[in-house]
Amino acid sequence: MAPLREVMVAMRAAFCENIWLLMLLLSTALAAPFAAGETALCKNTTCGGVDIPYPFGISTESCAMGSGFDVDCTDTGNGVYKPFYGDVELLGIDIQRGQARVNNHISSSCYDAISKGMNSTEWFLNLTDTPFMLSDSNKFTVVGCRTLAYIADQDYVGKYMSGCVSGCRRGDVSKAMNGICSGIGCCQTAIPKGLDYYQVFFDVSSMNTSGIYNRTPCSYAVLMDSSNFTFSTTYLTSLEFNSTNDGQAPMVLDWAIRSANTCEEAQKKNDSYACKSTNSECFNSTNGSGYICNCSKGYEGNPYLQGSNGCRDIDECLYSKTYPCYGKCRNKPGDFDCTCQAGSKGNATIPGGCRKDFLPLKARLGIGNVVCVLAGLFGFLGWEVIRHKRSMKKQALLRQTDEFFQQHGGQLLLEMMKVEGNAGFNLYDRQEIETATNNFNKAHIVGEGGQGTVYRAVLGGVAVAIKMCKEIDESRKMEFVQELVILCRVNHPNIVKLLGCCLQFEAPILVYEFVQNKTLQELMDLQRSRRFYVTLGTRLRIAAESAGALAHLHSLPHPVLHGDVKPANILLAEGLVAKVSDFGCSTIDENTQAVPKGTPGYIDPDYLLEYELTAKNDIYSFGVILVELLTGMKPLSKERKSLTSLFLEAMADGTVRELLDSDIVDEACMRVIHRAAVLASQCLVVPGMARPTMALVAEELKYLALADEVHQCPQPPFVLEGMSFMDMGSTVSIWYDESRTSGVYSLENKAVLSTEFSR
Ligand SMILES: *[C@@H]1O[C@H](CO)[C@@H](O)[C@H](O)[C@H]1NC(C)=O
Ligand SMILES: *[C@@H]1O[C@H](CO)[C@@H](O)[C@H](O)[C@H]1NC(C)=O
Ligand SMILES: *[C@@H]1O[C@H](CO)[C@@H](O)[C@H](O)[C@H]1NC(C)=O
Ligand SMILES: *[C@@H]1O[C@H](CO)[C@@H](O)[C@H](O)[C@H]1NC(C)=O
Ligand SMILES: *[C@@H]1O[C@H](CO)[C@@H](O)[C@H](O)[C@H]1NC(C)=O
Ligand SMILES: *[C@@H]1O[C@H](CO)[C@@H](O)[C@H](O)[C@H]1NC(C)=O
Ligand SMILES: *[C@@H]1O[C@H](CO)[C@@H](O)[C@H](O)[C@H]1NC(C)=O
Ligand SMILES: *[C@@H]1O[C@H](CO)[C@@H](O)[C@H](O)[C@H]1NC(C)=O
Ligand SMILES: *[C@@H]1O[C@H](CO)[C@@H](O)[C@H](O)[C@H]1NC(C)=O
Ligand SMILES: *[C@@H]1O[C@H](CO)[C@@H](O)[C@H](O)[C@H]1NC(C)=O
Ligand SMILES: *[C@@H]1O[C@H](CO)[C@@H](O)[C@H](O)[C@H]1NC(C)=O
Ligand SMILES: *[C@@H]1O[C@H](CO)[C@@H](O)[C@H](O)[C@H]1NC(C)=O
Repeated sequence: MAPLREVMVAMRAAFCENIWLLMLLLSTALAAPFAAGETALCKNTTCGGVDIPYPFGISTESCAMGSGFDVDCTDTGNGVYKPFYGDVELLGIDIQRGQARVNNHISSSCYDAISKGMNSTEWFLNLTDTPFMLSDSNKFTVVGCRTLAYIADQDYVGKYMSGCVSGCRRGDVSKAMNGICSGIGCCQTAIPKGLDYYQVFFDVSSMNTSGIYNRTPCSYAVLMDSSNFTFSTTYLTSLEFNSTNDGQAPMVLDWAIRSANTCEEAQKKNDSYACKSTNSECFNSTNGSGYICNCSKGYEGNPYLQGSNGCRDIDECLYSKTYPCYGKCRNKPGDFDCTCQAGSKGNATIPGGCRKDFLPLKARLGIGNVVCVLAGLFGFLGWEVIRHKRSMKKQALLRQTDEFFQQHGGQLLLEMMKVEGNAGFNLYDRQEIETATNNFNKAHIVGEGGQGTVYRAVLGGVAVAIKMCKEIDESRKMEFVQELVILCRVNHPNIVKLLGCCLQFEAPILVYEFVQNKTLQELMDLQRSRRFYVTLGTRLRIAAESAGALAHLHSLPHPVLHGDVKPANILLAEGLVAKVSDFGCSTIDENTQAVPKGTPGYIDPDYLLEYELTAKNDIYSFGVILVELLTGMKPLSKERKSLTSLFLEAMADGTVRELLDSDIVDEACMRVIHRAAVLASQCLVVPGMARPTMALVAEELKYLALADEVHQCPQPPFVLEGMSFMDMGSTVSIWYDESRTSGVYSLENKAVLSTEFSR
């Protein structure tokens, strides 16, 4: 016995020695190329109770992956240390998801009774060239009773700007409700992915809170993680929103390793590839370029570190709650086996899943037969049930289609058509619309406006634009239908023709003639970037035509208010003929305070205070367009006051000439320009009662556009306007493609979408 034992001991020793040798060899071999990674290990990885895991590190230790990952551990007084990234406090870092929580500063705007001005604190955060980006899970949250706040990207190079309007009808705080943040006292808007710059500014020139400051002292705006946010009406009447968390609100940032754009690119560069751990995987960042690392399935730890600090196997058998096993559990690298005890069979991962196997063969055969017969029976029954259900579903759809039709006043419409004749009006079928738009296929979308989505389609051989309204108000059914019938009879050269509607969907669908989708907005953008020259005559003509169209809508027996007058809604047909579009869905119900839409820069401040759409609101918006045509400037910019304030001040000071577009200023036509400027200022007067009617505006503009002087103005060297619109179309589209990236388009679109809010 003794010699045998000795041999075994010797063998074991030899084996162990070899293992050590092997491991030594392996570790030196592995360690060599990664020496840099090893030294990066931080000794102190917490600050003020917050874990700062690698690739992050505390700046004084210089152990982070790069300077972008340095976190400052700062004494905030009384020896209380807190981690800071730039000037924002870090609340936590999530290695697995590539996210971090920080405290964002709340921007505020308060009325100062002493200086009789608005005292605003507007924060910004510049994350350019850092591993961080603003996560699109945050919401831009605005609290206030007369507040229009903007969130924007960097000036000049940024691509994004959006606004959020919060109001209380006539400053009445009691209209706001706890827990509801949808425009009354509180509003929220989403932000796009990939932003790395954040700035806030308030529109204090049109939102003067001097009248309500004793009830609502301050307005606030902050980009914050809204998952835990519940609006309280006391936020309006006290300083609570700001003071609860010391002027800050939690926000989520996404971070990633941004030294390479994708995983593949990073893996090519061995030494800088950040996923050092053996059992780690690389994920492309979905939020901007770069990548993040994660442990492979069944492993946990820090994927950015090697060895024992990196990804380790999870012993699943120790965590029976997360990895249930009701039999024999055995851990494997990256996985585990869970089997039934000997003598039983089944699925051991479900309770009672293991059964002793005792049935004899004969019984099993018998059971098999019975099961077969039953299965056949059930199969047949099931098929019948499915057939029945299908026919039920079809009937339900038909019933629903009919319900929608009734709900949207279809019956009313039919009766009206019987009485008044259906000249020019078409009632389209659900099927017809679905086929034409290929079931509302995204490829058919030509625009998304404040009132709904517009699709392009061909119906009965005619190109049409199909627009799905947002839901209409039950109580306005009658008016809506009347308006439709009236609009269909409108045959005005400067109004996009309404061909008919379909009432068999959740929301009414309007069908318009299709007009080339070049808009006044695009034309002005080309003019601003000096790639197209629009003469004074053309500007006045487009203004006159648009005004004429709006005047016509206002003068109908049942007046139609547009509600969203802006350059993007003035289409330009062949020969730059203006055609006003995007009307018809507009519904506003006084009792429910439904606010249909509006675009920052063009919204009448009166409307924001009263929440009531009147003809005067359209006139204000039109006034802004007129100013835009005269000055060539955009209505909003971060660097300056709103265009309307600038313009009105310049009119008052008599310095308006400095503001005018130098392309149209000429002594020969100064009289006309001056009259147009006076007209514009009349349209912008607050309160709205003093504004001229649309008909007067149209008449004056028509006179000005035809004035002799206008045609005597010298023409510039490049007059492209002489070309036919189709020629221009091809030229414009080339220009337009490059101008798309300028962000003007996205700004416009996003601003529209976010300032509308439902009740
Ligand atoms: C880590 O740093 C914090 C703050 O600088 C300090 O309070 C703590 O004692 C340090 N811990 C160790 C282990 O050095
Ligand atoms: C990383 O792994 C963890 C745990 O398996 C998981 O919760 C997380 O969603 C993963 N992250 C990504 C970006 O896949
Ligand atoms: C704004 O508030 C700050 C601090 O409360 C004060 O110092 C400043 O004078 C105020 N500015 C105006 C214009 O009221
Ligand atoms: C933001 O930071 C980047 C990089 O540090 C810098 O180039 C840029 O000018 C900054 N932007 C502003 C508006 O300060
Ligand atoms: C706000 O309105 C008050 C009273 O109407 C006026 O005195 C004050 O100048 C206005 N402030 C601004 C910034 O427009
Ligand atoms: C949400 O709020 C509750 C209570 O204030 C808090 O316990 C919880 O940690 C918060 N959750 C997040 C994700 O901030
Ligand atoms: C918001 O809170 C911060 C920090 O407490 C404070 O400095 C700031 O003055 C407050 N702002 C307002 C408008 O109360
Ligand atoms: C990167 O490392 C892998 C294994 O770690 C090796 O096979 C490959 O040759 C290396 N590539 C380069 C470019 O160094
Ligand atoms: C990362 O993105 C690139 C380019 O978009 C793609 O080719 C690659 O398959 C992606 N890799 C992973 C791991 O998702
Ligand atoms: C991207 O952002 C979303 C939402 O903000 C987040 O859930 C996701 O984990 C992020 N993905 C990566 C790879 O950073
Ligand atoms: C056992 O049951 C679990 C949970 O229902 C299921 O996910 C797993 O696939 C089953 N395993 C086998 C071998 O059927
Ligand atoms: C204009 O219409 C064309 C197709 O007719 C479409 O490709 C383009 O995206 C549209 N442009 C806008 C701004 O809607």
